[in-house]
Amino acid sequence: MIDLLITGINGKMGGNLVALSAEDKEIRIAGGVDADVSDKYGLPVWKNFRSVDAHADVIIDFSSPSALEGELEWAAERKVPAVLAATGYDERHLELIADAAKKTAVFRTANFSLGINLLIKLVRQAAETLGEKFDVEIIEKHHNLKADAPSGTALMLAESVNGAFGDGKRIMNGRAGAVGKRGNEIGIHAVRGGTIVGEHEVMFAGEDEIITLAHSARSKKVFAAGALKAAKWLCGKPAGLYSMDDLL
Ligand SMILES: NC(=O)c1ccc[n+]([C@@H]2O[C@H](COP(=O)([O-])OP(=O)(O)OC[C@H]3O[C@@H](n4cnc5c(N)ncnc54)[C@H](O)[C@@H]3O)[C@@H](O)[C@H]2O)c1
Repeated sequence: MIDLLITGINGKMGGNLVALSAEDKEIRIAGGVDADVSDKYGLPVWKNFRSVDAHADVIIDFSSPSALEGELEWAAERKVPAVLAATGYDERHLELIADAAKKTAVFRTANFSLGINLLIKLVRQAAETLGEKFDVEIIEKHHNLKADAPSGTALMLAESVNGAFGDGKRIMNGRAGAVGKRGNEIGIHAVRGGTIVGEHEVMFAGEDEIITLAHSARSKKVFAAGALKAAKWLCGKPAGLYSMDDLL
């Protein structure tokens, strides 16, 4: 039996994870950490990691970057593996993650869907085949409550395309005020509205032809299932930083 601690348990993804874990015989939820400590599921919820009073075999974090520091300190000290599924991390957060991964197993991805992880490989292949003459623009669409923009997935897609060009292109978020000829860039455009789960479109616009590769998530369940799979896989792994490439 694996004791799971869920950071962000009272959020939308936390709810999906609680529902999925209830059907999983290998998983027992030890509790959650959430800024909102309301008791939605009859499970212990702590406001932060300083107050956590339970044993955990693994953490899954679907909260926000603001939870990261205390969480990684707690996990590294106890050698508890952590699956980081939140998005919006900055350079400082990435350094904290790299440091913690020297002491415990850490898994991070901005997107747990198999389809998106295939799309990441396909856009790289498309960029290699089509070359610099095709302009690449990424359009991502999410619900009106999403905290960060652009999405972590859009950034992963942009980085994958950029890898085909030796990371030589600038990643440009929106194009407000950027007048004149298009530069050596990959454009990202964030649309927010309603309850859109997650849409990502990568457009390669060439002379007289356009190729579009796209993915549409129809429910958040797919992300919860991926995170749970990663958590089981991570238990018992040595310290290090792991990604979807390792899992798949
Ligand atoms: N990796 C993936 O596949 C994937 C998929 C979906 C969502 N996400 C990401 O997961 C995160 C959560 O998404 P959501 O839709 O459930 O959001 P949400 O706003 O519904 O839930 C976030 C929860 O985290 C809590 N929280 C925020 N900051 C906290 C902190 N410092 N300490 C403790 N709790 C804190 C909030 O109170 C809330 O209950 C986002 O970053 C989102 O982009 C990742």
